[in-house]
Amino acid sequence: MPIYILGIESSCDETSASVLRDGKVLSNIIANQDVHEKFGGVVPELASRAHQQNIIPVVTKAISDANINKNELNAVAYTRGPGLMGSLLVGASFSKSLSLGLKIPLIEVNHMQAHLLTHFIDDVGQKKPDFPFVGVTISGGHTQIVLVKNYFDMNIIGETLDDAIGETFDKCGKMIGLKYPAGPEIDKRSQNGNPDKFKFVKPSVEGLNFSFSGLKTAFMRFLEKEKLSNPSFIKHELDNLCASIQKTITEILIDKVKKAIDQTSVNRIVFGGGVSCNSYIRKRFSSEKNMIIFFPNFEYTTDNAAMIAMVGYLKYLKKDFSSFEKGVKSRFRF
Ligand code: KG4
Ligand code: ZN
Repeated sequence: MPIYILGIESSCDETSASVLRDGKVLSNIIANQDVHEKFGGVVPELASRAHQQNIIPVVTKAISDANINKNELNAVAYTRGPGLMGSLLVGASFSKSLSLGLKIPLIEVNHMQAHLLTHFIDDVGQKKPDFPFVGVTISGGHTQIVLVKNYFDMNIIGETLDDAIGETFDKCGKMIGLKYPAGPEIDKRSQNGNPDKFKFVKPSVEGLNFSFSGLKTAFMRFLEKEKLSNPSFIKHELDNLCASIQKTITEILIDKVKKAIDQTSVNRIVFGGGVSCNSYIRKRFSSEKNMIIFFPNFEYTTDNAAMIAMVGYLKYLKKDFSSFEKGVKSRFRF
């Protein structure tokens, strides 16, 4: 008998639902929330309201696109954390009700684990990493280096002490007038820019941890100084600024990943999270010798419910079910 898992993701500003059959994606519906664009970042209260509006249509479409009846579902997997409290609550409450109504198990999923386990979705042609591997989760909310010995044997060995890498793209982008989220546009504009035009000092943080707040401040000060002598500086140098900041961020990441390889003696590097879409990061890492690189398919880099359903499937096989009493967790370590 095939196993059908419904995954529900609502940790930040994407409402998503997905149905997997035996680890293969039958549907993966994502409703983005444009409402945050004009604020230059996610507004938590608006995010939870949008999730409330989106959740039923998104889940209904995921089930109908999968061409199954809801009674065929074997379990509901939902994001328990980390994420925004109000956003998580919408997905969790909905998932609990559905699981009760359909009398099927409820499975809790750690969003950060899901970003890495997205690689095990049974997509045609996608090579799956062997264990152990070094997971690199780079998104708008997180920057982590994780030693992954097995599906659920994961240890965070490095993380950001302040801003996440995606947040750095977004905040630097905002300083040069780009819309939120700025990461994709920085990536695009960089293709016409000179990455060596401007140099920014890289932070010196011990070990495998990151710090991006100093770089962000240095970028802001640099812009202020240049604008004094040339008010059109940003306009004239936009593509070069994008390429230069993108190169600096990428090299900070490469340095840390090399250190992680030295420390763990593991050179399989598995990426996850929205920033792993970035074409320059993909290019630079792919040209690194002594690393075996795995990038997710583009559709599974940013927040999506297929990755939640995938973890749900792996947990279903172990009968690792959750209880209804458990609350969501805005901070959720694994
Ligand atoms: O994983 P994600 O969808 O959400 C979080 O869990 O945060 O990641 C969103 C982040 C944003 O900061 C966005 O600017 C960044 O991923 N991002 C990119 C690119 N595409 C998305 N950053 C750099 N280059 C890209 N191509
Ligand atoms: Zn995420």
